[in-house]
Amino acid sequence: MSKPTYYITTPIYYSSGSFHLGHCYTTVICDAIARFKRMDGFDVFYLTGTDEHGQKVQQKAQAAGVTPKQYVDKLYDQIVALWKTLNISYDKFIRTTDDYHEKTVQKIYEKLLQSGDIYKSTYEGWYCTPCESFWTESQLHDGKCPDCGREVKLQKEESYFFRLSKYQDRLIQFYEQNPDFISPKSRMNEMINNFIKPGLKDLCISRTTFDWGIKLPFDPKHVAYVWVDALTNYITALGYLQEDHALFDKFWPADLHMVGKEIVRFHTIIWPALLMALDLPLPKKVYGHGWLLFGNDKMSKSKGNVVDPFVLADRYGADVIRYYLLREIPFGSDGNYNNEALLTRTNADLVNDLGNLVSRTAAMVTQYFGGEIPQPNAYTEPDSELIALCEGALPKVRQYMDELSAPDALTETLRIVQRANKYIDETMPWALNKNGDKQRLATVMYVLCECIRFAATLLEPFIPQTSAKIFEKIGLPLPKDFAGLGRFGGIGQGVTVHKGDNLFDRIDIDKELKELDKLAEQAEPAEKSPAPDEQTEQISIEDFAKIKLRTAKVLGCERVAKSDKLLLLRLQVGSEVRQVVSGIAQHYTPEYLVGKTVVLVANLRPAKIRGVESNGMILCAADDKSVVFVSPEKPMDSGKEVR
Ligand code: MSP
Repeated sequence: MSKPTYYITTPIYYSSGSFHLGHCYTTVICDAIARFKRMDGFDVFYLTGTDEHGQKVQQKAQAAGVTPKQYVDKLYDQIVALWKTLNISYDKFIRTTDDYHEKTVQKIYEKLLQSGDIYKSTYEGWYCTPCESFWTESQLHDGKCPDCGREVKLQKEESYFFRLSKYQDRLIQFYEQNPDFISPKSRMNEMINNFIKPGLKDLCISRTTFDWGIKLPFDPKHVAYVWVDALTNYITALGYLQEDHALFDKFWPADLHMVGKEIVRFHTIIWPALLMALDLPLPKKVYGHGWLLFGNDKMSKSKGNVVDPFVLADRYGADVIRYYLLREIPFGSDGNYNNEALLTRTNADLVNDLGNLVSRTAAMVTQYFGGEIPQPNAYTEPDSELIALCEGALPKVRQYMDELSAPDALTETLRIVQRANKYIDETMPWALNKNGDKQRLATVMYVLCECIRFAATLLEPFIPQTSAKIFEKIGLPLPKDFAGLGRFGGIGQGVTVHKGDNLFDRIDIDKELKELDKLAEQAEPAEKSPAPDEQTEQISIEDFAKIKLRTAKVLGCERVAKSDKLLLLRLQVGSEVRQVVSGIAQHYTPEYLVGKTVVLVANLRPAKIRGVESNGMILCAADDKSVVFVSPEKPMDSGKEVR
């Protein structure tokens, strides 16, 4: 009989910065689920990847003086190394610059055009480049991006639109019929109240102001909106609309899209609507997990509060990080990271409970039975309690994993470990040995080894390296599934333990905290908060790249009423026309300026000057006596970049 399938995905990661511990959260959780499902008899496909197109990448690459492809290649290497370090067992890694993905996205756009779900119009509204998301005026918070709190930019460009509004009723109906589609439940209400109820607007799905993206086959000056490009990875990776679509046939629809809470709306509104338009089945569940906070703020490079997973993995090993993320952060809610909690949790659960149980047991089996695990004799109390605990563990852990609660699954598993440690104190094997009660001693050793076998099997999805080490120590092959957990008593005759090193070394918390603080001080500064001297004296190339300077041709010019200083200029900037107010009326006449080429600060926040809207600023040089505008040295078309 063929195995049931399970398709699980992480979001694909932006290739526009370095990766921090917060990023590891989604992937580590998915890895634990994927490993658990594999062990539990499912045919699993675990997908992850990188989101490599978009304006943000283009800007960062430009600032770094490399091509976008060179830029994303470097980040690709970084993230692959990170997932290797953390033992992430993905089945496929997709890059949105992969040829098959690009071609399929083009086919998807064609299909949507043919079905009438795409039309051409003009987009006018706000855009957050770091989040690559469009916002209406009323959705902004204090004029900033409601998701990340950063500056947004007024955008006006010819675009293709996806008829998202058409799917509003079908989406609501789908949510009603599938109440677990958006999890946890609170996120469903958030989506309905904040986005669906105010009414869905058609979505701008192409951009023309930059070119680092997938060109639309029917209008190549447009590139695909990066979120449509990104979301479709979940099906292009499986071969959708490609010659070999066996994986798609086998695994779609996805069982679980695991995502951070800030991107739930893309996955529960835009993505299902796109799938409806493509006439495809919808994913079974989108789970929006909480954030890893650091100092009560979302851990993120722009806030400068990141923790480097490579540093932690190097000092303590991957499983310490995995265990902390999976055990300590309440699933579905935000969790505050701090070094002390990491170290304390490691010492308590991994060093004291798990590490001690394994090393004490291995030492006793070695000392009392020459290393060979003895077969048990009659079980008595409290043996039966431990047997019941072990035999009842898998159904409970499975239930927790079905609810996607790794912390509960781990707590349940650690119960076996803690109970077994208590059992050593209760049965006092050293006394049994002293009294020559070898029969009881054999049973006690066997019960302990069995408890270790159960716990280590259940721990494999969460801390795989440690689980493998434990199996090596108790001399058993690493189990490939949970089949051995049905019945207590699975260790046969002739199994020999190998004491070896400790699983984990005890951490001197005070000393380590100081070390970690020192390392954090030496780490890279925040992306957006330059050091004080930089603020006053120097700016980085990235800072300079934030200023968008463009050539602009003066189409018309007039004086601003009741002002002797202000001129109102109408500027051609590429395909766009803008009005800008400039305080140069005492230095230039309107007639003189018409036809001239000036340099415009194109991404200045719009302002009202004397009641007149100004969308940018023209560059001028000034001394005590005069003000002169800056102009390219030779003729130059409007809308060209000045850098
Ligand atoms: N590229 C988009 C996803 C496109 S999916 C079609 C994106 N990328 S991301 O790199 O910003 O985020 C990747 C994952 O990391 C997301 O699930 C995000 O929520 C998660 N995290 C990033 N910082 C985080 C924390 N501080 N805490 C927990 N997870 C967070 O979004």
